[in-house]
Amino acid sequence: MTEIFSPGKLGQIEIANRVVMAPMTRDRAGPGDVPTDVMVEYYRQRAGAGLIVTEGTQPSRVGKGYWRTPGIHSDAQVAGWRKVTDAVHAEGGRIVVQLMHVGRAAVQANKDADAETIAPSAIRCPDLIPGPDGVPVETVMPRALETGEIAGVIADYVAAARNAIRAGMDGVELHCASGYLPMQFLSSNTNQRTDRYGGSVENRVRFVVEVMEAMAEAIGPGRVGFRICPGVKFNGADDANPHETYATLLRALDGKGFAYCHLMHIDLAGQDPLDLVNANWAGPVIFNRGLTLESARAVLAAGKADAASFGYLFIGNPDLVERFRTGAPLVKAGRANFYTGEGDDHRGYTDYPTLAG
Ligand SMILES: Cc1cc2nc3c(=O)[nH]c(=O)nc-3n(C[C@H](O)[C@H](O)[C@H](O)COP(=O)(O)O)c2cc1C
Repeated sequence: MTEIFSPGKLGQIEIANRVVMAPMTRDRAGPGDVPTDVMVEYYRQRAGAGLIVTEGTQPSRVGKGYWRTPGIHSDAQVAGWRKVTDAVHAEGGRIVVQLMHVGRAAVQANKDADAETIAPSAIRCPDLIPGPDGVPVETVMPRALETGEIAGVIADYVAAARNAIRAGMDGVELHCASGYLPMQFLSSNTNQRTDRYGGSVENRVRFVVEVMEAMAEAIGPGRVGFRICPGVKFNGADDANPHETYATLLRALDGKGFAYCHLMHIDLAGQDPLDLVNANWAGPVIFNRGLTLESARAVLAAGKADAASFGYLFIGNPDLVERFRTGAPLVKAGRANFYTGEGDDHRGYTDYPTLAG
């Protein structure tokens, strides 16, 4: 049985407790998609988490799709992230960057005018995505990657993983959920390829496996985790058989020393996703599902996960672990400022008080 306040290890990453801050896009990056000083303060305030998973961060210009999301592909971005990791480490925390390549889930006005939009297949993302003014608009029609181009996309991830280490990160998390590029390869409806990256389930998982293995070779497998959400239909993903897809993926990744599997749980008919993970993956598991302290404790006590991640609760409660420890009341964050940072705007971002004031 794992106690939520006990230290542990996720691959090579040592954590002081089992309370993980879930990745949350907050749209506060500055020009050049460089992390801003207000982001440094935001993450510093939340360093009491056993592990912080940063907001989704693009590994390349092409991988951007939302407004004001940070990147980790330029020297200026690396320098910006270095300030974040120094601040978190100074408080005793640990932090990994979530690598989010959105693939087809992109609005052109949110990215460089000359940055194209690519996907496994030329099928447009049906969901609208907010543009720079916050109003949802149509996504870009993607161009299908040529087989020979895929190694270049994997190389972008590898470069981003190396940059993460240069920036002082404790590791990286590959975002394979929410209908972004890795999930576009995994899902049968978005992957209509006829080469070795499409068709059979073994082919559809190949891209993710190759990205994970290439990043592991660059920075060590124990610093590379991944996030999945079997069955999620966000951004038009609609896999015909998520159980088969994710069982195959997990078996292909298991036993290679990767840091963790981060499961974003949604209800799925048939086998429960957490049971699916435990049946096919023997490595560390971070569980996420709109948890409370009590429900997180129950999952850890049942031996089904090694850590639990919290999103919303970390927005309004920077010292969430301390509040859990002491039974202090929790603040409910308002949605209004989730994505509204402009310039140095602290509102709804770094102005939630700690117990200490
Ligand atoms: C404002 C906001 C932004 C989010 N951005 C991301 C993201 O960039 N990457 C990701 O994997 N999940 C993202 N999520 C999902 C959260 O990581 C988490 O899975 C979800 O909020 C459910 O957990 P919770 O109820 O503890 O918040 C986001 C959630 C919120 C509320």
